[in-house]
Amino acid sequence: MKVILTSDHGGVNLRKEIADLLTELGVEFIDTGCDCEGSVDYPDYGIPAAERVANGEFDRAILICGTGIGMSISANKVPGIRAALVHDVFSAKATREHNDSNVLAMGERVIGAGLAREIVQTWIGTDFTAGRHQNRVNKITDYENK
Ligand code: RB5
Repeated sequence: MKVILTSDHGGVNLRKEIADLLTELGVEFIDTGCDCEGSVDYPDYGIPAAERVANGEFDRAILICGTGIGMSISANKVPGIRAALVHDVFSAKATREHNDSNVLAMGERVIGAGLAREIVQTWIGTDFTAGRHQNRVNKITDYENK
């Protein structure tokens, strides 16, 4: 699995934690910043990362900002992206099983590093259940292609 990891200024510290975790887990990833001292705009980081998942260059993206909300809204504008804003382990598992989410968004100002690590580990390690959920995901794709 190839992962692209990015954040705005509000997510720099948590992004570094998650980069360490991905390294520990042996997950192949790139980190596209931000290497920012001042404030940047989350769509400038989230949208390009989401596009690189949508075009098949990466399997998944992990996007971090202050709340995770701006990143999730931005990523979900990219056709083919199913971004889930997740701040608990139950939802991390459920969004992989039910939604086949290919982008995970989290907020550094919302949760601590320990919980974020558990969320990422669960989200990376859980497969899509397909079955009845496939039809629901197909309806989202059909809407995008309309
Ligand atoms: C930046 O201050 C903050 O608005 C951003 O990181 C994010 O939380 C937006 O949704």
